[in-house]
Amino acid sequence: MARRTLHRAASRITLAILALPLAVPLAAQGDPSSGEGGEPAQEWTRSDEWRAAAAKASETAERMEGAERVTLTRGYRAIPFPGPIPEEAIPGAGYIPGIPRLGIPPLHETDGPLGVTYIAGLRGDFATPFPSSVAQGASFDPALIERMGRIIGSEARAKGFDILLAGGANLTRDPRNGRTFEYFSEDPLLTGKLAGASVRGIQSNRIISTVKHFALNGQETGRRFIDVRIGRDAARESDLLAFEIALEEGEPGAIMCAYNKVNGENACASEWLLTEILRDAWGYPGFVMSDWGAVPSLKAAIAGLDQQSAASLDKEVYFEDQLLARANADPRWDAQLDAMNERILTAVYRLGLDKDPAEPGGAIDYEANAEASKDVATAGMVLLRNEGGILPLVEAPKRILVVGGYADAGVLSGAGSSQAHGEGGAAIIRPYGDIGPYSRVLTQQYHRSSPLKALRERYPEARIDFRDGRYVSDAAALAALADVVIVFATQWMSEGFDLPDLSLPDGQDALIAAVAKANPRTIVVLETGGPVAMPWLADSAAVLQAWYPGIRGGEAIAEVIAGDAYPGGRLPLSFPRSAGDLPRPEIPGALELGLDFTGSEPSPGYELVADYEVEDAEIGYRWLARTQAEALFPFGFGLGYTRFAFDDFTLDRDRASVRVSNIGQRPGAAVPQLYLLSRNGQPMRRLVGFAKAELPAGEARQLDLAIDQRLLADNRDGVWTMPEGEYEIGLGTDAETIVARKTIRLEAKRWRNGG
Ligand code: BGC
Repeated sequence: MARRTLHRAASRITLAILALPLAVPLAAQGDPSSGEGGEPAQEWTRSDEWRAAAAKASETAERMEGAERVTLTRGYRAIPFPGPIPEEAIPGAGYIPGIPRLGIPPLHETDGPLGVTYIAGLRGDFATPFPSSVAQGASFDPALIERMGRIIGSEARAKGFDILLAGGANLTRDPRNGRTFEYFSEDPLLTGKLAGASVRGIQSNRIISTVKHFALNGQETGRRFIDVRIGRDAARESDLLAFEIALEEGEPGAIMCAYNKVNGENACASEWLLTEILRDAWGYPGFVMSDWGAVPSLKAAIAGLDQQSAASLDKEVYFEDQLLARANADPRWDAQLDAMNERILTAVYRLGLDKDPAEPGGAIDYEANAEASKDVATAGMVLLRNEGGILPLVEAPKRILVVGGYADAGVLSGAGSSQAHGEGGAAIIRPYGDIGPYSRVLTQQYHRSSPLKALRERYPEARIDFRDGRYVSDAAALAALADVVIVFATQWMSEGFDLPDLSLPDGQDALIAAVAKANPRTIVVLETGGPVAMPWLADSAAVLQAWYPGIRGGEAIAEVIAGDAYPGGRLPLSFPRSAGDLPRPEIPGALELGLDFTGSEPSPGYELVADYEVEDAEIGYRWLARTQAEALFPFGFGLGYTRFAFDDFTLDRDRASVRVSNIGQRPGAAVPQLYLLSRNGQPMRRLVGFAKAELPAGEARQLDLAIDQRLLADNRDGVWTMPEGEYEIGLGTDAETIVARKTIRLEAKRWRNGG
């Protein structure tokens, strides 16, 4: 009886949060810092759909008895190594048994953000791998990323998965982070918009998507114990803002907390992150699952964690018998357990998993989906250099030399939990080393999409030779005989370890330098997870950043080189001139722990701190602007095959407008960007809005750019605060190139939520 009474109290709390009024200026509600006024939650959390789901969840949770109460809180591993998985689980990432008596379906979880993952082919199927998230970020195109999400979600559903562990919304604070390829960008607005769009697309399939890894999961070295130190206001203005926007845009059913500590507390046991920010400030109605093996203790439940994913990976299974025993003994824990079940069920009901659960064996049009993957690849390719307009190679050269990058076999992909594969698995696998059961997945894998083959198909009359690049002298000698040389350079990244610097590994810089010296018509295609230094840049004719371009990456590269498609991307992260220009010239812990897989594992007794207070919210281009360091290629930069003119720039407090004209000879994509340049004379650099327009040659369009008010403000103890005064806003083609500027006088404003 006692449990039921308490339980009702917990339900009332959930519904009360969902019923809070719309965000209104603080002036109208009293200042919460003085103890008055409420905390308005994000608007979407009060929609009829979420409220109905929460009400139903509350009823079901009330009917749970005994062990049923810890059925949804305890997750099982569904990765078939190390060791077997539950019989009913679909090989994937995780599994949560259902409760048939209450009509609660089992939950099957799979990674990931780039396509349903392959887990070494053990499921006996394949999926459509999309380009890396950073390539998606380069598209600057939420509509395209939503379309991609719809496809990935449809494949997940057709394979029987109800939860997709997609939506990486961390900022690329350090480009050497081994997961840079899994994140969209270094900017909170761009990341939030794109992560949210991908979730929206995925969930349109009536399955749950996550955003992850909440929060500040900035490097892989020591990721299981590193303590990230950052000011709370600065976190709200940067990494947390990306999540805040992603939640608004995508309304994900779940959020995954991160491995690392934040200000001394494990992210998965951080009351500040999981309760104060996520629930109290944002009113988030869905549930928090842990990352795999990220739960430090039972106390995480009280901090706000709802589900211990793959619980056997933690030191103990906390969220089953231990949790139940505690709930039976302590009314506070009892109420918390009810709230945990309610939040998980709210997501289940909101997405309709009880009525229409995913079933394996659904139809998938892999051909159509691969074409969509190619569209994302070309939309995210960034042309960094194009001397004398060498690209596109419209006229077929007589003799082409293709060098390196396994271009004869395929295109590179990033490794770790996001590794997806097309039919037949990888074309090439380069082993990483003996790391036990993970040796089979943490390898350099190339998708079956050969740029060489695609180029030969595109230029049937040309003589196209290939050299793998092992011998520099041979490649350079042959380069001298070719009309055009195309060098493929790769930089492999993986979850589990970081990169020591920004160079291309395996002597590729020397190879490119020698080839470019031998033939000035050398085009460099980069298949990298993030930025690289380019010591050979001045000798090259063109540089095309192709990232990890997915299952049709080879074809996409050939189409862009030939001009059948144009490179539509802009850099979603700065390319610094050297690692010395980053806030931390070295990866914290790199020397002590080693930049290999074991370096991410727990290291008892060793304490590791990453001091993000150095840059606080000033990440990437903001940091470079503050330190007055010029980038090798700035955030937002990209050339394309045409030129644009920008006129009629007008500015209001929450929007700007500009007329964009394609004044070149070929179609292309314009990406006008709005930057806050100064506030009352104090210089700053923040992306406050952006738009993308595809325009045929000769066409013009008036574009509207919304300005997210949070980017004009500072966060002070959870309150967005805009001082009265002069706001100078620039229209940029990248973070360093401002083509028009306007100053607007704005009133002081303070508010809690919403942009
Ligand atoms: C990763 C998550 C992933 C999970 C399940 C973890 O190692 O950090 O991103 O979703 O594994 O595979």
